[in-house]
Amino acid sequence: MALYDTLGTTYGRTRQPDPRIAAQIHAALGNAADVINVGAGTGSYEPPQTTLAVEPSQIMLAQRPPRSAPAVRAAAEQLPLCDNAADAVMALLTVHHWSDLAAGIAELRRVARRRIVILTWDQQIFREQFWLVREYLPQAAAFDDSRAIPTDRLATLLGGARQEPVHVPHDCTDGFGAAYWRRPHAYLDPQVRAGISMLAQTGEDVLAPGLATLADDLATGRWHDRHADLTARDTLDVGYRVLVSDS
Ligand SMILES: C[S@@+](CC[C@H](N)C(=O)[O-])C[C@H]1O[C@@H](n2cnc3c(N)ncnc32)[C@H](O)[C@@H]1O
Repeated sequence: MALYDTLGTTYGRTRQPDPRIAAQIHAALGNAADVINVGAGTGSYEPPQTTLAVEPSQIMLAQRPPRSAPAVRAAAEQLPLCDNAADAVMALLTVHHWSDLAAGIAELRRVARRRIVILTWDQQIFREQFWLVREYLPQAAAFDDSRAIPTDRLATLLGGARQEPVHVPHDCTDGFGAAYWRRPHAYLDPQVRAGISMLAQTGEDVLAPGLATLADDLATGRWHDRHADLTARDTLDVGYRVLVSDS
């Protein structure tokens, strides 16, 4: 069974694509005439010229909106596609789940005619900049240490890539790990946590003490006193990065 057959049951509810991040990803794809989305999930951020989505989880495939691009159940490590199958291939918030990263990246390079776009995060920046893991849930940060892919390693596997920061809007509609950086109460909602693999895979028992402290700090105003600077910000760089590689 694919990991997201258990993690992904509520994905469509909390993980709606954010239009500002979509604009950045679509700009990164440039003028690609056709795009293949690997690790596509429910289809977030697919541009209109998407010709195929590749996704191993049936639960995720079932949540793709009607009329989205055709999809095939497969994994990045063995793409059922010919060489040079599309101008561009994108892989968004997925490489940290792959069982064989090098094989998956080699497959992206085989299938992309011109460009590969990857959305991931820099774990060192994430740890330093994101108050949730720094102050309340260090166990979640430790879990991410075990799976985060250094962006420089990705760039090397890609044969070179430029890296762009993705600044997370304060009202981000895609509920990934740091999406609620200015809406701290959201992390007390089990449905929100279920849509964030870093939290879902760390486990509720492990998170409980840190979440109780967060609830207390929100009730007493301690969180707001400590993070007054955040309330004045519209976006935050917590380490999310788009990598763009041309062949
Ligand atoms: C966090 S979701 C991201 C989905 C989508 N790209 C998005 O941005 O919303 C991670 C996805 O990677 C998929 N995935 C996990 N292992 C994979 C693999 N080996 N090859 C391709 N996709 C994989 C999961 O099933 C899941 O749909």
